[in-house]
Amino acid sequence: MIDKSMSGATATRTGDAALRELVRAGTGIILEQQAPSGAYPASPSFSAYSGYSWFRDGSYIADAMSAVGQIESAERFFDWCSEVLTSRADRIRHIVEESRAGRPPSDEHMMATRFLLDGAEGNDDWWDFQLDGYGTWLWALAEHHTRHGRPLDRWTDAIALTVDYLSCSWERPCYDWWEESAEQVHVSTLGCIAAGLSSIAATGHLDQPRASDASAAATNIRRRVQADGVRAGHLTKWLGTEAVDASLLALIAPMNFLDPLSPVGSETIAAIENQLTVNNGVHRYLADTYYGGGQWPLLSCFLGLAQESAGNRSRARDLLDWAASTAGDNSDLPEQVEEHLLDAVHLQPWNDRWGPSASPLLWSHAMFIRLAAALGIIPHPDRPETGPQTNDKGL
Ligand code: BGC
Repeated sequence: MIDKSMSGATATRTGDAALRELVRAGTGIILEQQAPSGAYPASPSFSAYSGYSWFRDGSYIADAMSAVGQIESAERFFDWCSEVLTSRADRIRHIVEESRAGRPPSDEHMMATRFLLDGAEGNDDWWDFQLDGYGTWLWALAEHHTRHGRPLDRWTDAIALTVDYLSCSWERPCYDWWEESAEQVHVSTLGCIAAGLSSIAATGHLDQPRASDASAAATNIRRRVQADGVRAGHLTKWLGTEAVDASLLALIAPMNFLDPLSPVGSETIAAIENQLTVNNGVHRYLADTYYGGGQWPLLSCFLGLAQESAGNRSRARDLLDWAASTAGDNSDLPEQVEEHLLDAVHLQPWNDRWGPSASPLLWSHAMFIRLAAALGIIPHPDRPETGPQTNDKGL
């Protein structure tokens, strides 16, 4: 269990003007860093990330940019994703054919999680086989389409390739959001895939057979999560464990896979508040040692989005304020901070190897912007709140 007494920080209220300034600065950083190809680099200055764009990070960044009306920036990222996919169409079709024939290709033949800014694959080894980002890009596209009424036609081929790829691959174990535990089937990965497939099907843009495949896969994923991804009343880090992981928050908000007010939704929020949150800073998972297992501002923002969607706006505002407190003098938001560490002995070895934590991390800025928009701190063209839906999302 986490020792919550170790950190002495208390919540400080940040004024709206300061929050708006951080949103303005973050939007500026994202626009400035976006490559001519449309790719969003994960972090321009961190050696291990520099020169790469992730489908996961980038899709959440595009969603945040879309939410604050930066339509062109979001669509340029979607164009980059589309090019990555359509330029590998033969490879993806081969994966799909082999998988459907019961001969799924091995992990190293599956699609990478990150690409160079020009869309090529890098040469260095990486924990590459991750499925969540492909679901998240479908979800971000569907959100953007619904939010702004923008047509999806120019991404039709890339969408079809992604739907086919995910519909036949979702059951496979793969690396998680944190690029770890490749032997497990991760519940947040499943939720990202299901959210992507069902939201793109709901746009009406898919042909009928593909829409049926997408909806069937999303339904089967939901059943699998119900059966093996819920323990002690909450979603779990992977199928069959009791542990939680803060990446699960995304399934509540903004991805709307799980109703925040359902029993499983509220237990999941409570478990992450109780087990992983110390003075508003959110850890990834209890056994985390990367950089000593610090607290991630982007995860405090995901918790804020989940709390906001559950109607707890004041709690969400505390979390946004905490994220704001991690900004450097230059307004850069880092990947993680060292205020409260889960395993301090691991910090120095990571610092010796990589240097300080990535900053700015564009994904951190994106989640900050997205939560500020959800809280109405900045005007945003998002669709009006409809409140939690009573549908099949209660698990
Ligand atoms: C994180 C990933 C992230 C990547 C780039 C890694 O350390 O585990 O979730 O996509 O950094 O930000």
